[in-house]
Amino acid sequence: MTRYERRDGRLRLFRGDSRRLDPISSGTVGVILTSPPYWVRGRGRAAAERYARDLAVGFGREWKRVLARDGDLWLMIGDRHDGAEWVAMDAIITGWLRRTGWSLQSRGFWAQTSSRERWDNRVNYLLRFKKAGEVVRPRGTTLCWMLPLPRSHPDSIWDTIPEPVARTVLEGSKKRGPVLDPFCGSGTVGRIAASLGREWIGVERDPRMARITARRLRLRRVASVT
Ligand SMILES: C[S@@+](CC[C@H](N)C(=O)[O-])C[C@H]1O[C@@H](n2cnc3c(N)ncnc32)[C@H](O)[C@@H]1O
Repeated sequence: MTRYERRDGRLRLFRGDSRRLDPISSGTVGVILTSPPYWVRGRGRAAAERYARDLAVGFGREWKRVLARDGDLWLMIGDRHDGAEWVAMDAIITGWLRRTGWSLQSRGFWAQTSSRERWDNRVNYLLRFKKAGEVVRPRGTTLCWMLPLPRSHPDSIWDTIPEPVARTVLEGSKKRGPVLDPFCGSGTVGRIAASLGREWIGVERDPRMARITARRLRLRRVASVT
């Protein structure tokens, strides 16, 4: 993995596949906040199940290893399977995460106003998981927003998590330990984490996106790690 970091080491980026998070020690991450890519090939429930299984089994095992015992996993999930179908993706993903040792603690929504799609008010789900057996004290926050789609970085093809959503999540989660975004794209979560004085670790597979994030967050390339 190619590694980039800020001079003080509090922001780190690894360019590679986040199915393996070898450079991150077990139980050290305070909160995972990410928006996985949700372009799923193939239509129908079976394809959506395959996608959710890959997320929970292929990626979730490492999320569980690196996350602190009382840490949070927050996923921002769209509901347009294969760009068109509505398949209740949140329920499918929740089912697979439950089967692999997570429990759903909170569920919220971010609805897009002024959607550029033909769907009105496209809905995105915000799901908060804990490791099974770790229960949080309920909070009074209502996780619901009506927001226009934020502009992501002009060089990015990906949508991004809106700033008010990411801020609420980070302010309401464990403060100790870095924030991890295993699908970091153009690094929006990193930028927000940095503005809150949090440590951040990003992982991005696409070299071009990794370079954009490094530029945006002023990270320098330090080395390749195995
Ligand atoms: C929905 S985008 C994330 C957008 C991000 N929140 C932002 O603000 O730009 C998903 C990102 O995951 C990356 N990705 C896909 N598969 C990956 C993998 N196996 N490991 C690491 N990154 C991956 C994609 O290249 C893409 O940049």
